[in-house]
Amino acid sequence: MRKIVIAGNWKMNKTVAESVKLAADVVAAARDVRNVVVAIAPTYLALAKVAEVVKGTNVRLAAQDVHWENQGAYTGKVSADMLKEIGVDFVIIGHSEQRTYFGETDETVNRKVKKVQSLGMTPIICIGETLAERKEGRLEAVLTTQVNGAYAGLSADEALRTVIAYEPVWAIGTGVTASDDEAQEAHAFVRGLLARLYGDNVAQSISIQYGGSMKPENAAGLLAQKDIDGGLIGGAALKADSFLGIVTPGSRSASSLSVPRQATGLAPGAAAGRTGAPGFSSLRLRAPDSGSAPDARPDHPANLRLGACAQRTVLGSPGFYWRPRLA
Ligand code: 13P
Repeated sequence: MRKIVIAGNWKMNKTVAESVKLAADVVAAARDVRNVVVAIAPTYLALAKVAEVVKGTNVRLAAQDVHWENQGAYTGKVSADMLKEIGVDFVIIGHSEQRTYFGETDETVNRKVKKVQSLGMTPIICIGETLAERKEGRLEAVLTTQVNGAYAGLSADEALRTVIAYEPVWAIGTGVTASDDEAQEAHAFVRGLLARLYGDNVAQSISIQYGGSMKPENAAGLLAQKDIDGGLIGGAALKADSFLGIVTPGSRSASSLSVPRQATGLAPGAAAGRTGAPGFSSLRLRAPDSGSAPDARPDHPANLRLGACAQRTVLGSPGFYWRPRLA
């Protein structure tokens, strides 16, 4: 089952005191958020204090990087055990700023992913092309190399415990966002790469976030795309209200368009799209409250590409199912 994951990457911003204040504001604002995983990634320096603020709340703690070794002479670095000890759940790995300024390679990304996973934390694996690479028509080649590199040697079970952040480098901190279509196209391509490595079911279960100048004004459009499962937010995460301005449409999207994200009623190993109910997909709309229908208005932005929605029982699982337009 795919989750919407919205994480704030605070990068090298905020003192410890400011981080504690922002974390408290996010916790208060996100108190009623239910169907989105919300995470914040302060600097290493502030992690332990912020851990105390988010403990017992629905806001999860993320780190911005990690080293793959347990300990030793690695000046300036922090190990996965140290992050685990203070309650970190997610670790951002392979961010383009790490790749550009600090020599991160696909191989170091892969080592970090394995280390983080071995301790039960979830890596957020960042990938994305530069403007030059996109202009030269190398988008797909770059994403393929990055995905293959990051997942080298990972089993399907391990792959299921990862999140990808597709962050086109040209959109990071520039105010220029990929259009909804550009982002969706890249996400679908990445999901296809995962399907090639692990099969459709696994690929359909891995959350792929978008990152790059995501803000409240463009979040709803991006999050309504069928392969965009959240966001990795930089600048807009530095204020609780703008961050929540992204979480809120994410939450709406999760309850009304969780269609492709909620492959339900399927026996493990069954292929998504094949069901016992003629014409109806195996993908089920999640009802926001028990017994109530999901938002199935055909003009709802999240439903534009959906066909009919109807109450059905598929593989013994009652719910609101959708029928793709072309079916
Ligand atoms: P901005 O949202 O500031 O563009 O940063 C995105 C990012 O790099 C998140 O990791």
